[in-house]
Amino acid sequence: MIQVDISNVWGQISLPDLLSLEKEVFDAHMTLSEGTGAGSGYLGWLDLPAREPTEEIQRVRQAAEQIRFDSDVLVVVGIGGSYLGPRAAIELLQGSHHNIQKGKGDPQIFFAGNSLSTRQWNELQKLLEGKDFSIVIISKSGTTTEPAIAARALRWMLERRYGSDEARRRIYAVTDPTDGALRQMAAEEGWETFVIPPNVGGRYSVLTPVGLLPMAVAGIDIMEVMNGAMDAKESYDLRSFENPVWLYAAVRNLLYRSGKAIELLESFEPDFRSFGAWWQQLFGESEGKDGKGIFPACAELTTDLHSLGQLIQQGQRNLFETMIRFTPPAQKYTIVSDYKDLDGLNYLAGKTLDFVDEQAYLGTLAAHADGGVPVICVDCGELNPRKVGELFYFFQLSCGISAYILGVNPFNQPGVELYKRNMLCLLGKPGYEQ
Ligand code: PA5
Repeated sequence: MIQVDISNVWGQISLPDLLSLEKEVFDAHMTLSEGTGAGSGYLGWLDLPAREPTEEIQRVRQAAEQIRFDSDVLVVVGIGGSYLGPRAAIELLQGSHHNIQKGKGDPQIFFAGNSLSTRQWNELQKLLEGKDFSIVIISKSGTTTEPAIAARALRWMLERRYGSDEARRRIYAVTDPTDGALRQMAAEEGWETFVIPPNVGGRYSVLTPVGLLPMAVAGIDIMEVMNGAMDAKESYDLRSFENPVWLYAAVRNLLYRSGKAIELLESFEPDFRSFGAWWQQLFGESEGKDGKGIFPACAELTTDLHSLGQLIQQGQRNLFETMIRFTPPAQKYTIVSDYKDLDGLNYLAGKTLDFVDEQAYLGTLAAHADGGVPVICVDCGELNPRKVGELFYFFQLSCGISAYILGVNPFNQPGVELYKRNMLCLLGKPGYEQ
């Protein structure tokens, strides 16, 4: 189980505060599990975890094997909830440099359609030169502009390179089972398709083929991910403050009510960066509405202690931190002794890098607690595919409960739709003139 330690928030909130929230947390959890709240048509993610591969998961694994066999590169096209989850899992488990020295058998994975940057597109075109590649187009609506533009361009590249029959075999679509332009196009062109269930919203879709197909192509054991999510579904159903999900959801709401409007999610693992981006979308889109919401920000430690540390320690007292820790890896690095000791580091000779990291963590915790910054500590244990599945479910469940405590619908995103509509109007898309 993931451990949530709230001993460093007591200066800001009290035990009676926490206990007085118990009924609200209980009610929020009930609202979610019984499907009686706002957005209850989007609760399909609660039941996605599985112990045994479903038929869809079997097909995902077969498609992944085919891509691993015939492609040097897989390009994953998507944005927002149709992009951040797979990237989070792949980078957390394989590192942000996971593409180096890869090719057929264990393909490189690039992401496209998540911006409108011409520079990024030019770079991708170069990266694909002389490489065999396949694409996975992910879009629930099938009409989002950024991935649609990238998908069209990549489809044309494939057709020019391989001819239409071979191109068709190299295109996979992950979309709604019946609706949208992508579903229609896939049917017409004969692409292999996978389903995003209609009752699962984008930011809760990582345990569907949205996340599972790219993860499987990266060589991640997706049944381990699903089993980790299932572990979480079972253990975090507990209705008491012994449930770390309850503690996290309750404490962040109490801190918000006491004026802490920013949550800074921090990890001491640089490869957690994309997971942080997934978490930002999950909480930002789920809670930021009706004039409410905790601003979800991310920082990397110790890196950002040398940039944001000053502000955290002594800036406006409007933030709290959530620090993510993993058990250090088995392979250690031990600091060596140097006979000249010009850098003065011999006092650390014989100590491991993990030991130094641990002292940095404890030192930061103490300094920030002294500076009046509440810190929620999340100890995740070993980092492996099972843990990643558990983490996804842990945060999704925490988010659903937390948003209901806040009094908002966790499953809509009316603000995102507004930007899309304005952009389409400016671009002159037929039907969006007003
Ligand atoms: O969470 C969401 O709903 C959004 O971030 C969407 O995932 C994002 O806008 C992409 O939408 P679509 O999958 O329809 O292309």
